[in-house]
Amino acid sequence: MKVKLPIKCDELTLRRVTERDYADLCDYYTAPEVARYQFWEPFTDEQVAHLVGSQADVMPGDPGVAFVLVVVLQAEDRVIGDCSLTITSCEDRQADIGFAFNPRNHGNGYATKAVNATLGFGFRELGLHRISGVSDVRNERSWKLMERIGMRREAHFIHDCYSKGEWVDDYLYAMIEDEWPKIECCVDER
Ligand SMILES: CC(C)(COP(=O)(O)OP(=O)(O)OC[C@H]1O[C@@H](n2cnc3c(N)ncnc32)[C@H](O)[C@@H]1OP(=O)(O)O)[C@@H](O)C(=O)NCCC(=O)NCCS
Repeated sequence: MKVKLPIKCDELTLRRVTERDYADLCDYYTAPEVARYQFWEPFTDEQVAHLVGSQADVMPGDPGVAFVLVVVLQAEDRVIGDCSLTITSCEDRQADIGFAFNPRNHGNGYATKAVNATLGFGFRELGLHRISGVSDVRNERSWKLMERIGMRREAHFIHDCYSKGEWVDDYLYAMIEDEWPKIECCVDER
């Protein structure tokens, strides 16, 4: 599938992962704070290298595998986070969104802009009909972000997974194609 990348969104650029992003990705994927509400533990450097290497083979629109867009803060030419889309059904044009940002860059609205732009990429470029996102209920920053961009809370799952020694509740959020964008924080200058 041919798609238009990169995406320019105000002070951010979203593009595919390259090998030179390794150090920037290590900077936050190895941080306990970033893994806190994820089912995974902080990455080792080897796991980050695997993530970087494996993305070279992933094409946008491939089902069942996360397609990652790194988020570059243009002023510093540094990767500050990433957003991913995983197609869960080609037939029904459904996908899940994921995102993680460097704690050093939290609280500036960068993740909000980038996730909103990734929804736009999914709807406009990949032709998706519905994009969902799951958040641990304790991960307030995550679900507040999804609410900020206009995703709808569709479910509260009780003890739907056992993670890091305890049962966890999750919220399910979603948006459908004609609901995007709910906020106008992104300027697409491709
Ligand atoms: C989830 C995560 C990306 C949210 O980060 P964040 O810093 O809250 O998100 P943003 O960068 O969009 O910043 C939002 C904050 O900036 C403020 N802000 C400032 N300018 C803003 C702007 N132009 N637009 C939107 N928000 C803005 C918001 O009010 C909000 O403030 P608050 O922290 O007081 O609520 C981050 O916590 C993270 O990476 N966590 C670890 C990984 C993770 O859990 N991922 C989710 C898995 S489901």
